[in-house]
Amino acid sequence: MALERTLSIIKPDAVGKNVIGGIYNRFETTGLRIVAAKMMHLSKEQAEGFYAEHKERPFFGALVEFMTSGPIMVSVLEGENAVLRHREIMGATNPTEALAGTLRADYAETIDENAVHGSDAVESAAREIAYFFSDEEICARTR
Ligand code: TYD
Ligand code: MG
Repeated sequence: MALERTLSIIKPDAVGKNVIGGIYNRFETTGLRIVAAKMMHLSKEQAEGFYAEHKERPFFGALVEFMTSGPIMVSVLEGENAVLRHREIMGATNPTEALAGTLRADYAETIDENAVHGSDAVESAAREIAYFFSDEEICARTR
């Protein structure tokens, strides 16, 4: 088992539905610890940079527009195998394919507005965490 960190985003649709606490509760009850968090309203440039890997995809423009449509909650989660476990808690990208009990099954209706983001690998997690947080903003748990 490996202690990992991953980046979580509660997207504008879920913040708008007022379910930040419900989503954080799911992280905490499954043993993931929140070690950094902030609310942000992304600029177009910030959203484009974050999703740069998708810039040639047909949905890129709509994705950037959605991600800048309201505030988001950006967090760093820590735990054993946090990257994969967080992806499991989130469920499939398309909420119609997400398993019952996952965040996307519970809080999203469509693939383009799917409530949450999670890093897909340890390497992308490191890059995505550094995109939003300095080392000083990430708090080691001491108890
Ligand atoms: P992707 O990295 O494939 O999914 P995930 O968020 O599960 O890692 O895609 C990034 C986001 O792009 C996805 O959460 C929602 C959006 N998207 C669409 O709007 N339409 C699509 O067909 C796909 C694949 C993604
Ligand atoms: Mg992805």
